[in-house]
Amino acid sequence: MSLLRKNIAEMAGYVPGFQPENEAEWIKLNTNENPYPPSPRVREAILAELGSNGGNLRKYPDAASREFRQVAAKLYGFDPSWVISANGSDELLNNLIRACAGEGEEIAYVHPSYSYYATLAEIQGARVRTFGLTENGQVADFPEQYTGKVFFLTSPNAPLGFAFENDYIKQLAGRCSGVLVVDEAYVDFATENALVLVKECENVVVTRTLSKSYSLAGMRLGLAVARPEVIAALDKIRDHYHLDRLALVAASAALRDQAHLRETVAKICATRQRFVADLQQLGYRVLDSCANYVFASPPDRNGRRVYDGLYQRKILVRHFTDPLLAHGLRISIGTNAEMDATLAALNEIG
Ligand SMILES: Cc1ncc(COP(=O)(O)O)c(C=O)c1O
Repeated sequence: MSLLRKNIAEMAGYVPGFQPENEAEWIKLNTNENPYPPSPRVREAILAELGSNGGNLRKYPDAASREFRQVAAKLYGFDPSWVISANGSDELLNNLIRACAGEGEEIAYVHPSYSYYATLAEIQGARVRTFGLTENGQVADFPEQYTGKVFFLTSPNAPLGFAFENDYIKQLAGRCSGVLVVDEAYVDFATENALVLVKECENVVVTRTLSKSYSLAGMRLGLAVARPEVIAALDKIRDHYHLDRLALVAASAALRDQAHLRETVAKICATRQRFVADLQQLGYRVLDSCANYVFASPPDRNGRRVYDGLYQRKILVRHFTDPLLAHGLRISIGTNAEMDATLAALNEIG
């Protein structure tokens, strides 16, 4: 007799991007981390919160993350009742499924995109459906009325890098009976975002992370913008002290320093542009990207061969065994020096 629920006993579990033990020896371009440090205001805020003897840590954090929500709400032009904070946007993706899809009910997402949605649905006992992409980057065979409980749209798409246009997202929202979650983990590197649709459409939720553009993957911070009734539901099911005191002050400090965000994003986008041109010179096919990574395939369309060659040279990128993606690699954009080293290695590998 198993002590576990059947779906938990049978599921495989999500495998995150490889994390080498001796990180400093590697050029790590496999999990879309930001190569630049976060705003200096983040460090100052953490030190101030710690004080001289860490005394504040005796006390529980603000369970409602009021300051973080207020700062985010002001930044994005919403009332704070439309915003929720999270321990990474992964927490929100999980809680959206828990809030909206019961056991046996359906959620869907676009394949290829972020496969963690499927793992979260499996934990909940929800059914999973995937929709492919058409040649021109639209959702293939999407029904006139999709009756599943949650549809996740990753925009910009990971790992391909393109973004869906708002007109199109709005059209999809009108065809969803349930919630349309626009996962905007990478949107700060793009030119358009879907926040306006949260106001225009009753069922659109936008999730964001501070892991990528704000260089805070190590602090685990995310947020969502949605109608107050959805936010209230997400508030009911989250852990009450889900964000610690240091994370909370770091989040507010990071969001307040928009100049730092703009500067970092501009550097990464400039490096991306140069890296794409250099890859094309090497004969690689590179998809247009509005994120901090590119999806590129070598002339022989053997992504695994190039992955192995880079790995031997202590450069980590992401290779997916999925047949739709195995011909290429997802390469995060690092510093100029890291991308130069990667290009030199690719040149050698041939
Ligand atoms: C598309 C997408 N959504 C969400 C996440 C999760 O981000 P977080 O670090 O905020 O949990 C990632 C992380 O890689 C991602 O690629």
